[in-house]
Amino acid sequence: MSPVIPADDAGIARAVAALEHGEVVAFPTETVYGLGAAAHDPRAVRRIFALKGRPSDHPLIVHLPAGADLARWANPVPDVARTVADAFWPGPLTLILQRTDAVPDAVTGGQETVALRVPDHPVAATLLSAFGDGIAAPSANRFGHVSPTRADHVVREFDDPDLLILEGGASRIGLESTILDVTGPMPTILRPGAVTRTMLEAHLGRPVADAGPRADTPRTSGRHDSHYAPHAPTRLVPGSELRTADCVASGSALLLREAEPPVGETVTTFRLPRDAAAYAHGLYAALRSLDAHHPTEIVIERPPDDADWIAILDRLTRASHPTGPARAPRRSEPPNVTSEEVKEEP
Ligand code: TXA
Ligand code: MG
Repeated sequence: MSPVIPADDAGIARAVAALEHGEVVAFPTETVYGLGAAAHDPRAVRRIFALKGRPSDHPLIVHLPAGADLARWANPVPDVARTVADAFWPGPLTLILQRTDAVPDAVTGGQETVALRVPDHPVAATLLSAFGDGIAAPSANRFGHVSPTRADHVVREFDDPDLLILEGGASRIGLESTILDVTGPMPTILRPGAVTRTMLEAHLGRPVADAGPRADTPRTSGRHDSHYAPHAPTRLVPGSELRTADCVASGSALLLREAEPPVGETVTTFRLPRDAAAYAHGLYAALRSLDAHHPTEIVIERPPDDADWIAILDRLTRASHPTGPARAPRRSEPPNVTSEEVKEEP
């Protein structure tokens, strides 16, 4: 089992030493947990790809300590980048910029751009400032699988005794950061997240484009149709249709929001809160706990189409994509779910 260590002074020092030795360390952020290595060290970065089973041409986000010199990593740094960085960093926003020669090809997958973010989780911030340099990190899940929002999710993903995991509680936001490409004439959202288009437009005083779910951005691995997927086939169903039992096969697991549970032989039901932020916070843990019952199918009540739900719908649509080429193989693990977990969330 991978060791989960408290993020006290000794834990941070141990994690920094591991990073300095070219090892991989998992750490909490406010969005999801990350699998980090020293961004300047191509060998260390390649270890992340090996652990994750991720294709090596898929670029990683470089996480920076607050106040880091962006010019070391990106050139040029346009005014839009500075404006949104001032407004939203530390926080759940990743910027795509032209890279400098200081960024190894291993981090960018050979592309001319780099993804940068300053996270605001206290453990991530302490780790980054103690390390004093960029940490390249994807979400700490195996390629194509649901992102981890708790340390024990990371333990179950990798089960590697050499992987140090810093404890940081449940990630506050629960969905990956917004990715904003600022390399072109118009800032463009490549992945929706907690920093919304409306928030960005309000700060910039100019329009922001949304690449949309069908955007042709193959190098952005989160845009694979089947990303963020549980092992079980997953289906999004309008709440109104859930009233009839015939749309839920026996052996299914249900993820509800407002709908009454339909009659039928479901293996388990999880109810998430009505509020979008609270729903996002609990979503990945809910998918993981439903999946651990090895259901024939996960049926998810489709949430509303309002602006607040854009990032959630983006992930649910990908989680429920039928063809799943990136669906991660299930590790042999017993269902690790207590009856507590499947009760209604407060
Ligand atoms: O919230 C987050 O962003 C989390 C935490 C750990 O920071 N990280 C995360 O990393 O979600 P990852 O690798 O799972 O997703 C990052 C996305 C990928 O889809 C990747 O392809 C994209 O960012 N990306 C990275 N560099 C890029 C670039 N230069 N151009 C376009 N997309 C890029
Ligand atoms: Mg990911």
